[in-house]
Amino acid sequence: MVINLKNETEAYRYGIYHLLKMIFPYDTVVVNGENADAELSYTVGENTVTVCFDGKLWEEPILREDVLLTLKRTVYRVTDAKLPFGVLTGVRPSQTALKFRQDIVKHLGEVYFVSPKKAEVMEQCAGRVHSVRQSLFRGSVSLYIHIPFCPSRCKYCSFTLAYLKPYSQLIDGYLEALLTELRGVLETISECGLKLTSVYIGGGTPTVLTEAQLERLLQTLNAFSMPQEFTVEAGRADTVTEAKLRLLKEYGVSRVSINPQTLNQKTLETIGRRHTVEEFYRAYEICRKIGFETINTDLIAGLTGETFLDFKHSLDGVISLAPEHITVHTLCKKRTSGLIDTSDRTTAEEVEKMWEYAYQMLLPVYEPYYIYRQKEAVSSMENVGFMKNGKECMYNIFMMEEASSVIAVGAGGTSKLIDFTDKKPFAKLRTDKQPERYIRDLDLTLPKKQAFIRENCHRI
Ligand SMILES: C[S@@+](CC[C@H](N)C(=O)[O-])C[C@H]1O[C@@H](n2cnc3c(N)ncnc32)[C@H](O)[C@@H]1O
Ligand code: SF4
Repeated sequence: MVINLKNETEAYRYGIYHLLKMIFPYDTVVVNGENADAELSYTVGENTVTVCFDGKLWEEPILREDVLLTLKRTVYRVTDAKLPFGVLTGVRPSQTALKFRQDIVKHLGEVYFVSPKKAEVMEQCAGRVHSVRQSLFRGSVSLYIHIPFCPSRCKYCSFTLAYLKPYSQLIDGYLEALLTELRGVLETISECGLKLTSVYIGGGTPTVLTEAQLERLLQTLNAFSMPQEFTVEAGRADTVTEAKLRLLKEYGVSRVSINPQTLNQKTLETIGRRHTVEEFYRAYEICRKIGFETINTDLIAGLTGETFLDFKHSLDGVISLAPEHITVHTLCKKRTSGLIDTSDRTTAEEVEKMWEYAYQMLLPVYEPYYIYRQKEAVSSMENVGFMKNGKECMYNIFMMEEASSVIAVGAGGTSKLIDFTDKKPFAKLRTDKQPERYIRDLDLTLPKKQAFIRENCHRI
């Protein structure tokens, strides 16, 4: 079906368009088009809004002086929509929960039509954002180090990266540049009196680095005072060895991610993730043996061709290992990923069933600590980090919930600074995604990043 969103001005259009895309995920929504199967139009009066859909007219008084919210509520009602997150379209649902001081679940239901289960999760995550913010002192920053290389591309992946084969000769040069940037940035951080609260080495796949390369990176970090929370994404089981993992432990890494995404061998092959289920189990066991404080495992709900039972199998398998953290994502089909299989219609209902099962199994033991949504995920369903024993990965909250400043080094890294007083992001600096350009331009970009830190550090 083609749905035409008709209106003369651009006001409120973006928000309504996205809500319509969520309500009708398998239909096409056009703006001011012709020959559509259904049409939605709206007008805003002084005290009311009116929405007309498919011949049905609905008028509502403006709620909380928020025209867009009222329009979305009216669109939701007139289309008879039923979405787990109601009219919420934003990527950070906890921010909405934080607007309310009490009765959060009730308010989220009444104002935004969020289902009780999702509202509870939002409330819990908002609680973590609040307490992590309270624990921060002026001058707290986190450091993100990006390794944009992977041994091969998983088809669904849309992250900024390069692939090992054509780039293997580039890694040494990249590491040289990265270490120069790292030293420069860490010196500026100390000079400005800032204090690191967490370090996160992510990617890509940081464990594509050889032992010797990893050790150089870890030594460079160790020359400075490192915080207790230190994460390394060892995501792909086909890149980890016992020796690399031991090295990480020796240099103080407290949290590693070993990510199966699925425990179904057939799906791993479909999504082009070149490791086996067995390799995942082996890597996980080594991490346990070595004694990392926290092991995280990532899963994706809604992977191509997977049914509810496939997801259940993966989740049950991961839970039986009892990792400290489990992160569940909803498959997101970004245009930049290789997985735009339009014939794959894993329905929103199927993915929602996966989520219901995930909450049913995880919530008795684990607590959700951060949540974010992506527009391209089925019905913009959520990504949630779960923790055991009340110990979160603070970095994920800082970064995903914009709760604290992050300074990034490496190609494609984005540094985002959060004002200590009003808790809002106020400055952003992006680095070029291309490793070659990153190496070439470092002489210019490093002083720029140092100036960026110096000029803004008083607000962090
Ligand atoms: C930045 S990736 C890096 C992790 C690591 N390279 C790995 O693959 O194990 C972090 C996580 O995002 C999730 N992810 C990546 N692409 C996704 C997509 N298109 N949809 C949903 N989740 C995705 C995966 O669970 C992945 O482990
Ligand atoms: S999912 Fe991870 S391993 Fe796969 S291509 Fe993306 S970043 Fe690399």
